[in-house]
Amino acid sequence: MLRRDENMTDENLIKRLAKEISNAKKVIALTGAGISTESGIPDFRGPKGLWKRYDPEQSTYTFFRRDTKRFWELQIQMEEDGFDLSKAKPNPAHLALAKLEELGYLSCVITQNVDGLHQKAGNTDVIEFHGNSNRAICIECKRCYPMSEVKSRVKSGELPPLCEYCGGILKPDAVLFEEPIPTEALYRAQDEAASCDLMLIIGTSATVHPAAGLPSIAKSSGAKVVEINAEPTPLTGTISDYIIEGKVGKTLPKIVEEVEKLERL
Ligand code: APR
Repeated sequence: MLRRDENMTDENLIKRLAKEISNAKKVIALTGAGISTESGIPDFRGPKGLWKRYDPEQSTYTFFRRDTKRFWELQIQMEEDGFDLSKAKPNPAHLALAKLEELGYLSCVITQNVDGLHQKAGNTDVIEFHGNSNRAICIECKRCYPMSEVKSRVKSGELPPLCEYCGGILKPDAVLFEEPIPTEALYRAQDEAASCDLMLIIGTSATVHPAAGLPSIAKSSGAKVVEINAEPTPLTGTISDYIIEGKVGKTLPKIVEEVEKLERL
């Protein structure tokens, strides 16, 4: 945890970050599941995280290939258990990031999330580092299908769901453990991290690589790195310059409000 000197209250840190955002040449955001919890989507490692209720082993590519039927049954069970992306709506934190782009201060969002909420909120340059679970993809011919359609086929007994085109097995178009990050997303994210002068790290425990390595790329390229998160992470006091602790649904809109105030000066 960063040593907090007496006058570095959260309010002061929010004002400080707003000033850094307005003076920066290129600001990017790296987001994790913590930005979507206030949209009703559980995170993975928080107190009510998904990995407290489900075995991450069952989100590996090995498990998907070994027991495809069970894998898809679990997809339905997780949805019934609250991990339902189709109904989720952007929350004030997503909307604040979209506003920051609209004001011209945010050049892209690199997200580890697979819920598509940044795009729904209005951000136009979103790097989906772990793919997007609102679509399913055929592992053979790579044809994509809306996840809502595939899940209704699974619910009516099609287990596993198959590609109507080539008969291949369908899987969520999200990166499972053991799978590589989509090449284009990986290279672009690394380029953005290496060329920004301010990286906002929002709602991530910063524990899963290679996403968790992006802040070090930014830092070693001379960027300022600031965390906005409910709790300290391995980056706090090592890579990040400081952390603004609290719920992102509150802190992010306040930061953008301060940026707008500076604009009016
Ligand atoms: N406001 C601020 N921070 C929050 C909030 C909130 N409302 N809700 C949760 N957080 C914080 C948690 O305290 C935690 O530090 O967000 C972080 C979420 O961390 P994880 O659950 O580990 O999620 P994430 O970092 O995105 O996980 C990375 O791991 O399981 C894989 O592929 C999965 O993309 C995921 C990756």
